[in-house]
Parts: sequence; structure tokens; C-alpha cells
Amino acid sequence: MSYHNPYTPPRKSATFDDYTLAEIRRAAATGIYDIRGAGTKRKVPHFDDLLFLGASISRYPLEGYREKCDTTVTLGTRFAKKPITLKTPITIAGMSFGALSGPAKEALGRGATIAGTSTTTGDGGMTDEERGHSQTLVYQYLPSRYGMNPRDLRRADAIEVVVGQGAKPGGGGMLLGQKISDRVAEMRTLPKGIDQRSACRHPDWTGPDDLEIKILELREITDWEKPIYVKVGGARPYYDTALAVKAGADVVVLDGMQGGTAATQDVFIENVGMPTLACIRPAVQALQDLGMHRKVQLIISGGIRSGADVAKALALGADAVAIGTAALVALGDNDPRWEDEYRKLGTTAGAYDDWHEGKDPAGITTQDPELMKRLDPIAAGRRLANYLKVMTLEAQTIARACGKNHLHNLEPEDLCALTIEASAMAQVPLAGTSWIPGRGAF
Ligand SMILES: Cc1cc2nc3c(=O)[nH]c(=O)nc-3n(C[C@H](O)[C@H](O)[C@H](O)COP(=O)(O)O)c2cc1C
Repeated sequence: MSYHNPYTPPRKSATFDDYTLAEIRRAAATGIYDIRGAGTKRKVPHFDDLLFLGASISRYPLEGYREKCDTTVTLGTRFAKKPITLKTPITIAGMSFGALSGPAKEALGRGATIAGTSTTTGDGGMTDEERGHSQTLVYQYLPSRYGMNPRDLRRADAIEVVVGQGAKPGGGGMLLGQKISDRVAEMRTLPKGIDQRSACRHPDWTGPDDLEIKILELREITDWEKPIYVKVGGARPYYDTALAVKAGADVVVLDGMQGGTAATQDVFIENVGMPTLACIRPAVQALQDLGMHRKVQLIISGGIRSGADVAKALALGADAVAIGTAALVALGDNDPRWEDEYRKLGTTAGAYDDWHEGKDPAGITTQDPELMKRLDPIAAGRRLANYLKVMTLEAQTIARACGKNHLHNLEPEDLCALTIEASAMAQVPLAGTSWIPGRGAF
């Protein structure tokens, strides 16, 4: 006979929580794994776990309204004949045409241009609207080579060789048939309406030496003018950064596991890669060991949302950051004004991540002509520009409070950590102590 204690409420398992149970049932019912967009949804150590110390007696703050705090950054100073200078260190990350609609790409270009920063193409090639509206456009050279052509390499202001992404280091892209419209199919030389998987590695590489050869080829095609970036997902940041530098990169783009994606397996997003916070110091250490810190610039991405995040990434040694998801939200993605339609899709504003399905009520992650019309690229570009401006002002405010007349003068010494994990990852002392766990061991 079982004994039921009337004082004990039914007890759910932390291991088999409601979400896990639902996922087991979903897998059992369908036999397919879950695909979705966005970045990791689990809580991992992040910039929120760091705080700035600010100036007091031992440090001298700058006056907000009168004393200058420079925000400019120049990328590509190592080899490129034409490095690019941006007014703010917040750049727009590569997001593919195909994943995003034409008007969304245009809006990104418009917003970035008003803010004086760069935007980036993505898998699937360069569209005329984003080239036309982006003062500074970085052209991605991806494993898939979809939409790649030498003409567009020359039309770009910089080239980003994509080795990997933080949401899926070691994995390739996905674009489901619903989103392969006539235009997307033509740009990618693919049949319309058929699911497509982008390659997880470049077809003509077997190792770092091939990356070096490829970078040389790209430099020759573009007459050594354009900065060449190498983008990697956060997996082994010390060695990947060192190898990218050795292969001749002007800029290393490092994308942590919180980084968004248009579509990949949920199991990948949640279980592969390292938190952004854990990637920065090893990458900076690699640059310092090679005498290349500030000579090869480091762009950090993956979960950047505010000027505080920007300032923290820069204080840890990055030269600039890139944003994807936050830029889409600024354009109007996941906006509660479409709540009724999110409900019809079985979700809610703020949780909608089925970006691969092409049904985005906000008209951003879709190729549906009717949904696309909902996004006004001029108004959306203006919203993005406002957001970039606010983030830049926030980062400046923090830098001034730390006594810095340039965002790049922020340093690890300006920070402390709220948790032991963040302290170990960011290599800054736990608040109230001088203790950094595991110092020196990358
Ligand atoms: C809709 C979408 C499409 C993306 N497409 C690409 C792509 O084509 N190539 C690429 O290198 N990264 C792609 N990414 C990743 C971003 O470049 C960037 O690494 C990531 O979004 C940064 O993290 P965040 O979204 O938290 O800012 C995509 C991200 C999103 C959200």
C-alpha cells in the first residue's frame, strides 16, 4: 500500500522539467528534431555578471557634457590599403538575404548608415538594396558560396571569411523551402521551394594553410584594398584567433554561443559552443601573445543588447562588437503589436523563433510578399539608427564615469564580477576581492 503524505505537494523533477517532457513527447510524435532561429535560451554567464567600478578618489571621471569621449574605430589597419573607420564600434552582423526579406536588408543598411557604422551581407549574396543603402558594407565569403561572385567582392568595403558562427560552430546553415522564392533561388542558383542546407566547411579547405591561400586570393581579387575579416564561432578562441592571425586576417570576428542564427537544430544552439563572455579573454590573449592586439582588430558578437554590454566587451579587449538579434528587434521583430498573429502561430511576442518558416508577422524573417510589405524600411532603419545611437551614448557614459576619453581606453581593471564563473571567464576579480579563479590558465 502506498502512503501519500497530505503535506507534500506533487513534486516535479528538475531534470525532467515541463519543457523537457514536452520535447520528448514532440520528438516521439514527429520523429524529427526541432529547428529554430535565435540564440541559446538557457542562462549562461554573460555580461550581466560583470559590473563597472567607476571612478572615485583613485580614478578621475570625465564630465559628461563637456569632456570628449571618442567612439570611433578603424578596422583593417594591418594589411588593407583602405581600412574602414566607423563612428561607433557597434556594427551590424551578417544576416542572410533569404533568412531576411529584401526590405529588412534595406532597413539594416539605412539604419547602419545613419549611425555611421557598417552592415554585413550573409549567406545568399549581396542584394542591390543593401549595397545601395549601406555606406559601409562587409561582404561575407561563406562555405556555401551561395550568391558569391567576384563583382560583389569588389563592390564591398570589406570581406568577411566565415568559418563558423557562435550558434552552431561546426555546423552549416539551413534555409527551408518556404523561404526559397524566385529571387532567393536565382541568387543562390538553387531550385525554388526545396529545403537547402549550407555547407559546414569550405569546399576547398582542409586546414589553416588553405585559409591563408584563400585570404591571399581574396586580396589579389580586390587589389589589397579591402580589410579581410575572419569570423569564427566561439569554440577554441585562443587557437582560432591565433590561426586566423597567422593566415593573414586583418580583423577577427568571434561569435559566442548566445549568437543568433536564422535556423539550426535546437540541440546545436543549446549544446555547442562557449558563452560569449568566455571567448573574449582567450582571444585577446592570443592577440597579445602575437603582439597583434589593436593591430588585428577583434569584433565580438553573441547576445549584445545594450551600451553596457558594448562597454564590457571593449573593456575586456575587443575593438568593436556586432549585433544581429537586437538589430532585428529594433527593426520591429517580435513586436507585441503583432501579438494576435504570434498567438495564431502558437507562440507569443518575445518567444517567436520559427524564423525558418517564413511566416514572420513583422515581415522581417520572411519572403512572403504580403508579409514583407508590413516592414517600412525607412521607418525601421530610423528605429535601428536610434537604437545604435542610444547604445553608443550608454557606452560613452560608462567610459566617462571610468575616466576614459576613448571607449578603447576601457580595460579589465575597470570591471569586477558578480559570480565566480564570470570572474573565471572574464578574468576580472570577484566583486569585493582581488581573487580571479584559474588566472592564467586558458
Ligand atoms: C536571422 C539571422 C541570420 C543570420 N545569418 C547569418 C549568415 O548568413 N552568416 C553568418 O555568418 N551569420 C549569420 N547570423 C549570425 C550573425 O551574424 C551573428 O553572428 C549573431 O546574430 C550575433 O549574435 P546576436 O544575434 O546575439 O547579436 C545570422 C543571425 C540571424 C539572427
